[in-house]
Amino acid sequence: MRDGHAGGASAGTGRAGDPDLRVSLCGLEWKNPVGAASGTFSARESGLAYDFSQLGAVTVKGLSKEPWQGNPTPRIAECPSGMLNAIGLENKGAGRFVAEDLPFLRAFIGDSGTRVIANVAGHSVGDCCEAAEALDCDGVDMLELNISCPNVEMGGMGFGTDPRMAAEVTGAVRARVKRPLIVKLTPNVTDIAEIARAVEAAGADAVSLINTLLGMRIDLGRRRPALANITGGLSGPAIRPVAVRMVYQVSRAVKIPVIGMGGIMSGEDAAEFLMAGASAVEVGTAALIDPSAPLDILKGLSAFMSENGFGSVAALRAALGTGQK
Ligand SMILES: Cc1cc2nc3c(=O)[nH]c(=O)nc-3n(C[C@H](O)[C@H](O)[C@H](O)COP(=O)(O)O)c2cc1C
Repeated sequence: MRDGHAGGASAGTGRAGDPDLRVSLCGLEWKNPVGAASGTFSARESGLAYDFSQLGAVTVKGLSKEPWQGNPTPRIAECPSGMLNAIGLENKGAGRFVAEDLPFLRAFIGDSGTRVIANVAGHSVGDCCEAAEALDCDGVDMLELNISCPNVEMGGMGFGTDPRMAAEVTGAVRARVKRPLIVKLTPNVTDIAEIARAVEAAGADAVSLINTLLGMRIDLGRRRPALANITGGLSGPAIRPVAVRMVYQVSRAVKIPVIGMGGIMSGEDAAEFLMAGASAVEVGTAALIDPSAPLDILKGLSAFMSENGFGSVAALRAALGTGQK
């Protein structure tokens, strides 16, 4: 499957007249600006469905230093135009990921150039530092610090809603790792630009947004909350306009690159985020409906750019003509 990367199946790179999809983030080149978002991508399962080595980047599920069990079930509820999840960052721990999963992921990617991003979780500043250090290793290209999960009691979104806490955990992790550090922001705040500026000042190399919006559903028949955790995080097309607005605001508030996500279902949706100011995008919930959605979205983006005369991602980002970095 990997071999398909270099040939005609690739999403518009390399042929005369195709747009140049390459982007540079934190000194690293991504061969195109479309990635798979954390929590919705698994190397083994996604690899059965499609050749993810054609993507610009893949972000693995949130990883803590020690294994976490996650929340009780039910922890998924469908909603109009999206879904609620309250997984609670269940994961096998950074050490087992590095030993068991990373070699498979790297072998699949081969020399295709797809960037590997490890998503870091912790209940405390110290926890985050330890997990980040364990993942700051060969085979990982970038780290993404999740200070935005709405489904864990300690850490997670608690870090991401207070600019001082967000800066403290960002600064502590930045001091302990060598790889570029992306900080993932929550939309559950009044002013996301303030949080973005705080983590930029504390040393973040990029920000990614948005994580899920806090929500709730009630199962009328059972007269119970639909999720055992009562509340969960809303993702999917329902949140896209909120995400585009926040990407627009944050990309004008900071100098570091912005990775945009939230309800991207098509190439046009991806183009909207790039035009709002994102340097790259990631696809989450769409991949839970169709695992190969990130690749279709990449192809759709390339087609949109060709049909509309955008020769590069930079041209798309400059299209609004206001306040671009
Ligand atoms: C089931 C599920 C699990 C997720 N797990 C994580 C996670 O471990 N770490 C993280 O930073 N974001 C996680 N997210 C958030 C997504 O990466 C993404 O930011 C969000 O869902 C918005 O994008 P989307 O609408 O395309 O899904 C998860 C989302 C879903 C739906």
